[in-house]
Order: sequence, then C-alpha cells, then structure tokens
Amino acid sequence: MKILVVGGGGREHAITWKLAKSPGVTKIFAAPGNPGTAAHAQNIAIKADDIEALKKFAIKEGIGLTVIGPEDPLSLGIVDAFEEAGLKAFGPSGAAAELEASKAFCKSIMETYNIPTAAYGEFTEAAPALDYIREKGAPIVVKADGLAAGKGVFLCFTEDEARDAVKSIMEDKVFGIAGARVVIEELLLGEEASFLAITDGESVVPLAPAQDHKAVFNGDKGPNTGGMGAYSPAPLVTKELEAEIMDTVMIPAVRGMAAEGRPYKGVLYAGLMISPEGRPVVLEFNCRFGDPETQPILMRLKSDLLPLLMASVEGRLASIELEWFDKAAVCVVMSSGGYPGAYEKGIEIKGVGDAESDSVTVFHAGTATIDGKLLTSGGRVLGVTALGRDIKEAIEKAYEAVAKIDFAGAYYRTDIGKKAIKD
Ligand code: AMP
Ligand code: GLY
Repeated sequence: MKILVVGGGGREHAITWKLAKSPGVTKIFAAPGNPGTAAHAQNIAIKADDIEALKKFAIKEGIGLTVIGPEDPLSLGIVDAFEEAGLKAFGPSGAAAELEASKAFCKSIMETYNIPTAAYGEFTEAAPALDYIREKGAPIVVKADGLAAGKGVFLCFTEDEARDAVKSIMEDKVFGIAGARVVIEELLLGEEASFLAITDGESVVPLAPAQDHKAVFNGDKGPNTGGMGAYSPAPLVTKELEAEIMDTVMIPAVRGMAAEGRPYKGVLYAGLMISPEGRPVVLEFNCRFGDPETQPILMRLKSDLLPLLMASVEGRLASIELEWFDKAAVCVVMSSGGYPGAYEKGIEIKGVGDAESDSVTVFHAGTATIDGKLLTSGGRVLGVTALGRDIKEAIEKAYEAVAKIDFAGAYYRTDIGKKAIKD
C-alpha cells in the first residue's frame, strides 16, 4: 500500500521511520517531509495545510492511507475532505479536532462528561475576565482559546500578570483570532504526563505512557517550548493509574464526543497533571501524536503501525492488541541557540551519521539539505532517541549520541529523563 505522511517535523519522521518497517507498505510519500523522512520516503513539496493539493496528489498516486501529523490540517477538516473524495485518512474530522482547536469547547466536553479538569471560566470580553481574576486571585492560568502553537498559555503567579495576559490576548491580539475567547483556570500542582491512545470512535487502545519536558531549561525552568525531550515508559503512570486514566478520561472523552455527534477517530492525546494525591487531571486534549513523545513511543512499539492506523480508520480497533519492546526510550531534542525566542537558521550540522546505531535514531525536525549539506532550518532541530534496558541506560546512550553531533549554537537540556530515576 502507498502511504502519504502529512507534516515535516520530528513526529512525522518517527511515523515515516516506523511505517517504513511495515511489510504492507510499498512506498511512502511525505508532504513536505524533511531530510530525515527522505531516507524512507519521497518528499513532496506540498505544505501540510494545503488540503486541496494533498487530496489531488493522493488521488493521482492511489494513496491507500494518509497519516496526518500536525493539528492545523486536522482542524481545517483534511480528514473530511479526504473521506468525501473516497480516500482513507488517519485522524479526527474537523468537528472532532475542535477538542484541541478550542480550549473552551474542550472544557465544556470535560464538564458535561465529568472528566476531571481544573475549575474554569470562559470569556469573550476582557472586563468580565478581569473581574473573574479579581474574584479568584492568583495563582491562575490564562489561555487563548484557539490554536497558538503551544504559546497561548500563561501561568500567572500574580493578579497583575494575569491581567497583562488577558490584555495581550484580547486587546493586543497577539494570537489573532485564536484569542477572541479566553479560558481562565485554576493552577494545578503535580507532575505532567502525556497519555496517548488510538481510537476508532468506540474502542480505545492506549499507547505506552510518556513524559515530555516543555520548559527550555534544566529543572523545568524558563519559557515553554514545543518540547525539549521525552521518555517512555513513564514510571509515574503505573498500571493502576493507566486503568484509572482509561476509565475516567479516555473512554468518557471518546463516548462523549460520539454522544455530541462528533465521533472521534485517530490519536487522542491527553495532557495530564498527576496531582500530588496521584489522581489524573486533564490540562488539555490534543487531536494528534505528541512531538517529541511520538519518537520514544514508536521506538518502543514492537507491533506493526500500519494495521493499527488502518483499524482506527476502518472501525476495527476492538481486534487489535499491541506489543511493546521491554525497553525504555529517551529522546533528547537539540535546538537552535535562542529557541523558543529568535534563532539563526542555515547552520551546518555534522555528526548525525556517527551518532546513529542499532539503538539510536536521530529524528530530524528543523533541518534542510542544501547543496548536499545538512543545515538547521527551525527551532527544534533534531530528536536524538535511544533505546536502553532501562531509562538510565537510554539516557546514557542518548547523550553519548548527542555528544557526537555538532552545530554552532546547538542547545539541549542535560536533564532529560532524570525525573524518571529520581528515587
Ligand atoms: P496546554 O496547552 O493547555 O497543555 O498548556 C501548556 C502547558 O501549560 C501545560 O503542559 C502545563 O505545563 C501548563 N499548564 C496548562 N494549564 C495548567 C494548569 N491549569 N495548571 C498548571 N499548569 C498548567
Ligand atoms: N509535546 C507536546 C505536544 O506535542 O503538544
């Protein structure tokens, strides 16, 4: 079967890498892909949100399955457009992807279906939002409603900070229409975990739990990024907690979306805060694979990915059971100096080949090949991902590989995975 992978980041490289191992796959295209996907796929110069061009390409090539990586095309309705054209596409419909695309919609689903989440208020005007902040006091969290590339969340420790956040979202419109509405919620304490599951709208198959590292600096300090590293399994998420997450979060969300007439298919990703008492509380739902969580998760997945994705699309997930390698995986993200702020592009990267081995894969994110040279082209550049007997060995192998890679200004956290071995 011919496959089209939509997107061009580390997540899409990992999906392409895993699908390339699938006996049922004859050819993979990646749109737009990156120099990493080019090792397993033919890159096609179509942007991830150019739905019409992607659809035409899929029809022309006789694509059997299109796998959509990023949230933007999903919320723009790429899956609906493909299905109308008789094409198979893995991911939720535009109506179902609103779970990620509107935080207010997501909160209302959680409220209606009793999914544990932070208490909140929702506002389309600044004045009542400011009143709510005065009434609740700090600390408090202010969020732009719409998609803001992970930047629309302000953790405010004083009422002044919260007021400033409302002003920049609603009055200065720093996120454009994504900030026409704000959600203001209670600040939750605890440790975060990423819980991803594949669903066909009825059955829900959990993937191995993972933990991300959102903050740019060691010790979870500094501004949030798309994610500076991830590991799986997440010892924080015990078997008992996993069962609780399935029963109180994942299954109610899938049932709830079906009851709302927006059946949810694809990956459902719950960003969770595990409270100090050990209870899962939902920070947000995403409608796609996590980046960088997908890199360690797919390195640990023993089962063939293609039948899993096809079973989601065709409503046959009840018959699927997944097998995992009994190993740990750690992904260390190497970023351009300055990220998540301004950074330079076009810097030559050396050593990627030396860093790779049987147990280490270097997933590309912000890279480009120009005149045969591998150059930086984005904030998150590489996701150096290693498998080990346990998290400790995976960390050691990942950092040994990172040390072999060199580009001017390269930055990475040196404490990825430490949380998992703190005791
Ligand atoms: P979100 O995009 O809603 O997941 O928020 C991005 C990040 O902000 C999360 O991964 C958390 O680190 C943090 N965050 C969001 N909401 C809260 C909250 N209510 N309490 C504490 N931290 C939060
Ligand atoms: N790593 C966070 C995300 O994919 O949203």
